Amino acid sequence: MQNKNILQTNKSYWNTNADSWFGTTALPQYGVKFVTEDELNLFGDVAGKTMLEIGCGSGHSLKYHADRNAGELWGLDISQKQLENAERFLTQSSYFPKLICSPMEDECGIPKDYFDIVYSIYAIGWATSLENIFHKIASYLKKDGIFIFSWKHPLHGCVIVDEKQLIFNKSYFDEEWYTQIVDGTEIMLPNRKISTYVNALADTGFIIEKMIEQTNDSTLQITEEIDDKSRKAQNLPLSFVFKARKA
Ligand SMILES: C[S@@+](CC[C@H](N)C(=O)[O-])C[C@H]1O[C@@H](n2cnc3c(N)ncnc32)[C@H](O)[C@@H]1O
Repeated sequence: MQNKNILQTNKSYWNTNADSWFGTTALPQYGVKFVTEDELNLFGDVAGKTMLEIGCGSGHSLKYHADRNAGELWGLDISQKQLENAERFLTQSSYFPKLICSPMEDECGIPKDYFDIVYSIYAIGWATSLENIFHKIASYLKKDGIFIFSWKHPLHGCVIVDEKQLIFNKSYFDEEWYTQIVDGTEIMLPNRKISTYVNALADTGFIIEKMIEQTNDSTLQITEEIDDKSRKAQNLPLSFVFKARKA
């Protein structure tokens, strides 16, 4: 599939549906409510840190760090509509991060060897090439800079809940790009294996400090009737988080 076609399709989806995602996949949650920064504390003290968010969406994760006194905040997103929402949302709190409208895959004037932390909450999976975007992110980071990202766990994309049973309905090994209609609009995504992320990080020279696959204790301890998503989360991780360091 042509990368240009993928980027155009996904950009169009986000421009059309930005309002319905406002603040829904942002810190302190790592994309889903079952894994949170409150519990993980992967970022530590961000006071004074220079930070860039890839796929910053409506700006809620940028605000999370601004509220914690981050030094300088930058956000990048492919969707103009998302960035308009982010700017409006952040301005209300008198925060003015530098916002850039571009595919993460492109050279877009982000400075090299500049950031203490580059992070991404539920956006890296949209990348048309992990190798390309990880190399770019490494170039933006200072030496020893930190890269934290979360995305939908590939097992979540392979398993459905049917009558309280968890059923595999797709192969874990299938990494082909697929097209799906969401809210009446087309998106294109692949379901990449965990090893694909690990190997792309290693090939870029990142040192993995932590990988998180978990569901919070309160969900694991529910014994009464639960909704399908929580039932799934009791049995497999719905999202994953990597924390890596630029060597
Ligand atoms: C789930 S949202 C992330 C929301 C964000 N974490 C927040 O705090 O609001 C995913 C974002 O990735 C962006 N995106 C998708 N493909 C992209 C690409 N190729 N380059 C840059 N951004 C992209 C979308 O426009 C969308 O805003």
